Amino acid sequence: MSHLRDALLLDVGLALLTHLVFNRIEPLAPKFVVPLLALPPLIPLILLLEHFSAPTAFCFASGVFHTVFISSVVFYRLSSIHPLARYPGPTLLKLSTFFVYKKNVTGRRHLYIQKLHEKYNSDIVRIGPNELSFRDVASIAPIMGTHGLAKGPSYDGLMARAVIRPVVAWRDKAVHAERRLPWNRALNTSAIKDYEGSLTGRVAQLVDYLLARSGVEVDATEAIKFFSYDFMGDMAFGGLSELMRDGDVHGQTKVVQATKDTNLMRETIPWSTLYFPDGGIALRKAAVTMATDRIKKGNSRRDLFHYLNNEDDAEPTSPPLHIVVAEATLAIVAGSDTTSGTLTNILYLLMQHPQVYKKLQEEVDKFYPQGENAMNCDFHPDMVFMEAVINEALRLYPVVPSGSQRATQRKGMTVLSDYIPPNTSVRIHTWSVHRDPRNFYPSPNDFWPERWIIAEKPSSFMSEEPFIHNANAFIAFSFGPANCVGKNLAMKGMKMVLCHLLQQVNLRFAEGFDPDTWDAHVKDYFMLEVGKLPVIVTPRVSQA
Ligand code: HEM
Repeated sequence: MSHLRDALLLDVGLALLTHLVFNRIEPLAPKFVVPLLALPPLIPLILLLEHFSAPTAFCFASGVFHTVFISSVVFYRLSSIHPLARYPGPTLLKLSTFFVYKKNVTGRRHLYIQKLHEKYNSDIVRIGPNELSFRDVASIAPIMGTHGLAKGPSYDGLMARAVIRPVVAWRDKAVHAERRLPWNRALNTSAIKDYEGSLTGRVAQLVDYLLARSGVEVDATEAIKFFSYDFMGDMAFGGLSELMRDGDVHGQTKVVQATKDTNLMRETIPWSTLYFPDGGIALRKAAVTMATDRIKKGNSRRDLFHYLNNEDDAEPTSPPLHIVVAEATLAIVAGSDTTSGTLTNILYLLMQHPQVYKKLQEEVDKFYPQGENAMNCDFHPDMVFMEAVINEALRLYPVVPSGSQRATQRKGMTVLSDYIPPNTSVRIHTWSVHRDPRNFYPSPNDFWPERWIIAEKPSSFMSEEPFIHNANAFIAFSFGPANCVGKNLAMKGMKMVLCHLLQQVNLRFAEGFDPDTWDAHVKDYFMLEVGKLPVIVTPRVSQA
């Protein structure tokens, strides 16, 4: 009998010890996880065999072990001894990332987290067993700034199967800073000038693509996606696709989509990547082919590859091919859907707000009357309303709506007066920050580009209501040393498209399209996804 009691105690003790090991070391790889969960119950089995047959003893030992292990995890995560216990949040999210994933996979995470902040009336909410969401502007600099936190474990999940990480995913701040150097060279003002030729060609092609479909329904989302992808391919690999010319006959955008489809699972449950098929493999294979072709072709003009591959001889040694491939692939993913999604949102918002559309078209006509080259960027700095329209669209629809994850490592950190314990993931919830009436008022949820103009001269605001415009709360391109390195290129590209497009065509929603359904199709799949935008294009000038 005493052996039975000893076996039981041993089983329980081993289960608690295993939980402690998981808690401290967080083993993820199957080669560690499987033995850790399968071997310990075999020890009490020896004692149990004196009392039971082998199958019964095995079931008993394993049943007790796993029940105690799971109960211990559940109790700890929900208990007041958990380091994040003092932060409010839904019970299921505290319990397991599985429930977090169930919420995220709906594509409504951006709205859900915003609601949680409102429900608990708190600037910090617990959105996972070990994850917090922040809504307070004052926490942006401490978390995202130079002395802030490194990237979080979601990037381990996103990159678990990659041969090597691209700059965006490095969790070591020193490595990140080093890998950022060629990007800084590739996307500084003078390098961007070199991409203008290709950009001009692609913008003209986009407008021709739309003009060729004048009078019939065309999906602006797809047209702009094709444009963005074609341009990023030119820029990253010196020419990659001809989607606007041929359509997506080779399924190139689908390859990128396949990666994004698995992003949520990989991001939310980083260890899951090791157990499920690798969604990014097709993209990586395609990238290796593109890079090898690009190297064979050489470069007739400076593209992104030129800098990433150290063809400018800025570094003493050139990186191996797999690093260049990883970075150039990132350019396609980070540069194309971000810009195209934002442009699509802008077109939607313009058509939904005819007064704003008219005002922007007037500004375009002022700087680029018919016959003027609207792709000459010289007037961009003077086009204040255009800048306001773009900023306002990005404020309402930031492309990484739930923020890019950061995490404390072995040491915790105090942000303002709140302590973030070690190994805690955190996000600045961009969507909530951008729509917080404490930062943008009045009408924080409405498209009102004028707020950006008024902010320059608040005394011009003629109303009884207060006017609030907190520029520090606008983080569409993120903040700190890992902010978006492509911001200037993205802004230039979007302005060129808008100038040329608004000069050449008029756009309206296609019949049968209900603009009020737009938000229902805006999804947070780590990057923001938008739905179809059926439009009718009419030329502004005779096409004879
Ligand atoms: C409207 C367009 C764009 C928006 C709103 C946008 C926004 C962002 C955001 C929010 C991040 C995450 C930063 C973080 O982790 O804190 C990011 C990173 C990045 N973006 Fe953009 N992006 C845009 C276009 C582009 C373009 C055109 C490129 C050009 C290739 C680009 C390249 C990158 C890269 C390389 C990173 C990683 C930077 C790093 O980790 O150091 N982005 N972007």
